[in-house]
Amino acid sequence: MPHSRLHLPTLPSLADGFGPITAEESDLLEKLDLSRLPRHIAVIMDGNGRWAKRRHLPRIAGHSAGTQSARITIETCARLKIEALTLYAFSVENWRRPKAEIEFLMQLLREYVRKELPLLQRNNVRMRFIGRPEELPEAVQRETREATAATADNSGMILNIAVNYGGRAEIVDALNAIVAERNGHSAHAPISEEQISRNLYTSDIPDPDLLIRTSGEMRVSNFLLWQIAYAEIFVTETLWPDFNRARLLESLIDFQKRERRYGGIDAPPASAAR
Ligand code: FPP
Repeated sequence: MPHSRLHLPTLPSLADGFGPITAEESDLLEKLDLSRLPRHIAVIMDGNGRWAKRRHLPRIAGHSAGTQSARITIETCARLKIEALTLYAFSVENWRRPKAEIEFLMQLLREYVRKELPLLQRNNVRMRFIGRPEELPEAVQRETREATAATADNSGMILNIAVNYGGRAEIVDALNAIVAERNGHSAHAPISEEQISRNLYTSDIPDPDLLIRTSGEMRVSNFLLWQIAYAEIFVTETLWPDFNRARLLESLIDFQKRERRYGGIDAPPASAAR
């Protein structure tokens, strides 16, 4: 009975404000161990174009529909008290798309950021943007700066929206920052992993422990290349606009079934796994 509705009095923080919870979501929540959730979830939101094509709609209709899935994912993760969520909205490679689609995506992003601010404030979310902002249209930069400032004092989940983001570009930026920092100093210690991590866009948050990719593609697509070294990867056939709370809960349940060994032979103690 996936569509019958009931409330979950035992999980007030999750059910509160979510509106009605479906029986399917309730079943999934029962299977979820709320004490072993990933700290940082990264998502490659893929399949908007195919979703639209199947409905004989223009590709941009898929992107518009995809904003609903982003909203559900953000709100659910915030209520589950996930520390950080990173959504891949626009890659450095996406400039190769038709001009009209790029313009639509930029406009959508501006509107999205503005429209979602109340939801982010309600859920105590800190919104940030990772990537190379200087190459974005000025109007987008203004909107993203304002949203970052408006939510900076929140204390809950960190939401990173990756815009004009590339994993290799991020590593190049980190190395350039290290080199610039060294200029003028004569003796150099070798560059360490820790130093690179400290200079990434995500320097103050843990690496993702779960990477979700929708629409079935088995690719990493230049996303958080350094940070996903030990991430569990969950690929679902579901297209991004169809990705909802139940599909997100399924990915979390699947994550909890994995044995994380970090190159060792036994699962590490819970504290090391974090
Ligand atoms: C991939 O679909 C999706 C994107 C290019 C990212 C854009 C995502 C959204 C607009 C969702 C809303 C989220 C925010 C934060 C504004 P695709 O076009 O690559 O799909 P295809 O592979 O089926 O062609």
